[in-house]
Amino acid sequence: MNINRKTFLRNLGLGIAGGGATRAFAQNWELPQYLANNPKPFWSAIRRGYDIEADFRYLNSGGLGPSSRAVKAYTTQIENELEARVETGHDLLEGARVDVADFLGAAANEVTFVRNATEANGIIAGGIELNPGDEVIFESHAHPGGSFPWLLQAEKRGVKVHLFEPDPESISGNIGRIEELVTARTKAVQVSHITAPTGILLPVRDIASLCRAKGIWFHVDGAQSAGMIPINFAEMGCDSYATSGHKWVGAPRETGVLLVKRKRQDAVKSVMVGAYSAGLEELPGKLDYYPGAMRFEYGTRDVPRVMGMVEAMRIQEMIGRERIAGHGRSLVARLRQGIEKIPSIEVLSPRHPQLSSSMLSFRTPQLGYRDMFSTLVNDFGLRCRPVSEQGLDAVRVSCHVFNTVDDIDHLIHAIKMTVEANA
Ligand SMILES: Cc1ncc(COP(=O)(O)O)c(C=O)c1O
Repeated sequence: MNINRKTFLRNLGLGIAGGGATRAFAQNWELPQYLANNPKPFWSAIRRGYDIEADFRYLNSGGLGPSSRAVKAYTTQIENELEARVETGHDLLEGARVDVADFLGAAANEVTFVRNATEANGIIAGGIELNPGDEVIFESHAHPGGSFPWLLQAEKRGVKVHLFEPDPESISGNIGRIEELVTARTKAVQVSHITAPTGILLPVRDIASLCRAKGIWFHVDGAQSAGMIPINFAEMGCDSYATSGHKWVGAPRETGVLLVKRKRQDAVKSVMVGAYSAGLEELPGKLDYYPGAMRFEYGTRDVPRVMGMVEAMRIQEMIGRERIAGHGRSLVARLRQGIEKIPSIEVLSPRHPQLSSSMLSFRTPQLGYRDMFSTLVNDFGLRCRPVSEQGLDAVRVSCHVFNTVDDIDHLIHAIKMTVEANA
């Protein structure tokens, strides 16, 4: 994919701000050649592309991903160009839809722009047909942005919720745990592609096959996966996929995407509608939904932020998406190796190569998660994420493109010092 050139040409054609071409700032972000036997200069150059304070080590992309300087500059440029002519820039969304679809392995008419993954999950939970007594299944580790939309349906429509505990050890274990819960009343299964508390990469393709065979809607909450690992919606086999731009993609805040399979879109009733969802000649009348997933959008959008997301995706392409995933995993492996040597530390995240991700959660009986989290950030400048879910009492570390081996070594040292000080 050449996302860069496509957007460049498209913007030329649109001629926003008086016909000026919108330049891709990433084109000016020079990265040294990647050398497998000496990757440090490459990752250090990426780190320099962010405005994160020099002595602050940010290890929480799973919470909120920082935007690089290039993304911020591009977003601001689009904003300035649109402001100069007081335009919404809505036309730009159609080009962005093509680029985002390419990045996620979807078709452009399967892309809906939303504010965050929570909104995307809510469109599916609130939109598919569910009657009192119908059942939905999702994992007990689901983030509130994934679980609450279904709990709302339990309140509003009398849906019954069943939970499975994600298995960090085995692929078939996860499939079996879901299968055990399926009944004739099961209408939807949702899983986090990568679970938020401990970073388990769930086998979505296998779960999709199971759901397809039983005619169950399968929704993937991919808030933690897009930008961490390459995504191919077509190959995943699910009916719908939600994600946030503002985590691993490195897009501006309040950028989310919902993907809905073209042939399944009519089965989702819009939760909110307005201009851009449907056409209508005259009131009163019947809503004539636009073909494609844009029907789930409504009203004025923050177009500069969506364009910032496109730029962030372009930068990921420039870095290399497999390389990004590999870098995160290698930092996690280094961290695991370092902290497993520390007495009392327990790593909760999977060791299994097909279930592991760029996040690792650990705990120690010597120190509660709040104290471990605050010691790391206050005494060592290491910003991780506390994990309170399901009594896990852990701290989560996210490893992304701007994180370095040095960050991980500093973290290992800090955990060791903290454990020793509390022994
Ligand atoms: C699995 C999962 N789903 C949903 C969310 C909510 O994301 P957003 O804030 O983009 O709605 C998160 C956030 O951490 C998450 O990890």
